[in-house]
Amino acid sequence: MSRILSGIQPSGTFHIGNFFAMMQQMINFQEDHELFCFLANYHAMTSSEDSEALKANTIEAAIDFLALGLDHEKAHFWVQSDVPEVTELTWILSCHTSLGLLERSHSYKDKVAKGITPNSGLYIYPILMASDILLFHSEIVPVGKDQKQHLEITRDIANHFNNIFGEVLTIPEPLIAEEIAVIPGTDGQKMSKSYGNTIGMFEEEKALKKKVMRIQTDSTPMEDPKDPDTCIVFALYKLFAEKDQVENMRDRYTKGGLGYGDAKKELFGLIWEYFAPYRTRRDELAADPGEVQNILKKGAAKTRMVAQDSLETIKKAVGLSI
Ligand code: ADP
Ligand code: TRP
Repeated sequence: MSRILSGIQPSGTFHIGNFFAMMQQMINFQEDHELFCFLANYHAMTSSEDSEALKANTIEAAIDFLALGLDHEKAHFWVQSDVPEVTELTWILSCHTSLGLLERSHSYKDKVAKGITPNSGLYIYPILMASDILLFHSEIVPVGKDQKQHLEITRDIANHFNNIFGEVLTIPEPLIAEEIAVIPGTDGQKMSKSYGNTIGMFEEEKALKKKVMRIQTDSTPMEDPKDPDTCIVFALYKLFAEKDQVENMRDRYTKGGLGYGDAKKELFGLIWEYFAPYRTRRDELAADPGEVQNILKKGAAKTRMVAQDSLETIKKAVGLSI
């Protein structure tokens, strides 16, 4: 039974990119693995000053996970800042991480290139992420492709640490669903909370339809053959449809006679039905935020026991615990 860990930032409403790349994979693991799943609110702080939004997004994120079937009794499920041992480890690892390693971070460089004035938290973001992973001796870390480099940095930090202090830390393996790779948003860029191009799991019916109908397509006339492999609608359709439905849709694209409007209507129907079974549970949870908070507090208490044990071993190894 491997230990699987991953986190996600509660930095906005989750979307189907988050769902397929991370949330669904995590939930599928809970039956036969030791699952550690958390809401990375310390990470979200690196790019938010809005305390009310951070709080609300954290609760909404928890509701989404629970509604989609995360079993908080089986898994460890918590809010990152409720297990503060991770910040203590961040300091310890910071003292053994070279600046050069952080300077190579694509995600940092991308954010700076976009004009964000970086704070120190954003710079040491990969060390906090390494701490999340290493504190729990995680073996497998399911993430989207864009997080691959962060996992490489984590492995570098852990190997460097172990070279100095002995085999204290477990070297994690990333698990990247290559077939999912990067899910496009409605404008064709990577679907992302920060680009305003997302499709959520739990949108209102009308809003969902509107978003799907606005997905960008080219101007090929209805009767002409179309290339499914360059079409955003088809890329999203593949995520929700059964194999034979995908083949059938591919045929209709290449034969011609299929309008993008019709393809979009079918996509909308699939997305709506796919999440329908979870909507009732989500409504129930949303009506009882106190219960959701209870679940998170219990999750944090359970997780802290693991964290405290592991931190103590690390502190002994570096000479802090005497
Ligand atoms: P966002 O870009 O929307 O803020 P995050 O950076 O919080 O998303 O990503 C959370 C998780 O979801 C990560 O594992 C990330 O790799 C994955 N993910 C986010 N967007 C996509 C996407 N468009 N395609 C595939 N995976 C994604
Ligand atoms: N950086 C990740 C993201 O933006 C979130 C994250 C924080 C994470 N700590 C982690 C993912 C530990 C996996 C493991 O998606």
